[in-house]
Amino acid sequence: MAEDARLICAGAALADGGPGVRFTVRRHGADEPAFVVRFRGRVHAYLNRCGHVPVELDWQHGEFFDDSRLYLICATHGALYAPESGQCLGGRCSGRGLTAVPVEERDGNIYLIPTE
Ligand code: FES
Repeated sequence: MAEDARLICAGAALADGGPGVRFTVRRHGADEPAFVVRFRGRVHAYLNRCGHVPVELDWQHGEFFDDSRLYLICATHGALYAPESGQCLGGRCSGRGLTAVPVEERDGNIYLIPTE
């Protein structure tokens, strides 16, 4: 684990395919919204910014999965993303995926790994 990794939340806070946890990440000198979810046992984090229009994905805080719990969905126009990669799978993201944020799960907690 990086020396300056920042705690986001307890690993138990993320149910598989369940609500995500929002946090901020410092990028290019500004704090940007991000989120972390658990999918098929692993945690994945992305900037909370749709590939279509740069708005946050969740219309209800923390609700990033669609009803099937297999895809991340943008609440504004319904773009679908792969939870494990952030790849655009359909809809108005038109091939523009989510931006991954480096996190790791260790000793029961989830940490942000700073990049700047
Ligand atoms: S803003 Fe996300 S699909 Fe349009």
